[in-house]
Amino acid sequence: MAFGKNKGLAAAIALGLGAATMAAGAALAHNEPMPKGPMSAGAKAAHQRHANFEKLGAAFKALNDELRKSSPNVATVQAQTRTMVSLSNALPTWFPRGSGVEARPKSEAKANIWTDAAGFSAKASAAQVQVSRLNQAALKGDMDAVKAQVRPTGAACKACHDVYRQQKD
Ligand code: HEC
Repeated sequence: MAFGKNKGLAAAIALGLGAATMAAGAALAHNEPMPKGPMSAGAKAAHQRHANFEKLGAAFKALNDELRKSSPNVATVQAQTRTMVSLSNALPTWFPRGSGVEARPKSEAKANIWTDAAGFSAKASAAQVQVSRLNQAALKGDMDAVKAQVRPTGAACKACHDVYRQQKD
């Protein structure tokens, strides 16, 4: 992969949002079907959240894949950024109390999401701002601006993960 011309993409991958991470996420999903039978509200929320984050990660990956092409398809780029806007706007609703590791042992959500709700909410808002800028650039059809916005977007994802997510194998 030629990273020279696309620092944003290189940064996104350096931030752990590259193909390997996404493949790992997909593998995890396949290994973990929705449990059968009745689930607690917390467990349902935790499983739904897992699926939603996979969609968010997949959209960001698809965006990066498209931007890597010599002439990215604007409609494809817009479809991904639109998905990212709606998911990141909904993100704060994915964490009801009782939906942490106590509800889904594989959850990577740390307990400070609930003990430091204000800090968590601030990280979510900061990410929404960056994703919104990404989408605005896409809607203008300005692919250079979209590329430039990949890095700050990935950084906003990472800023939350660094504090509130405990990555597991
Ligand atoms: C406000 C905090 C926050 C922001 C912002 C955030 N995430 Fe996350 N993310 C989390 C938490 C917490 C988890 C772990 C959830 C769990 O396992 O229950 C997670 C998990 C994930 C996962 C793993 C899904 C899985 O379970 O395998 C992916 C992929 C992901 N996030 C992508 C992104 C991307 C891409 C962005 C930015 C566009 C982003 N996240 C922004 C908090 C955040």
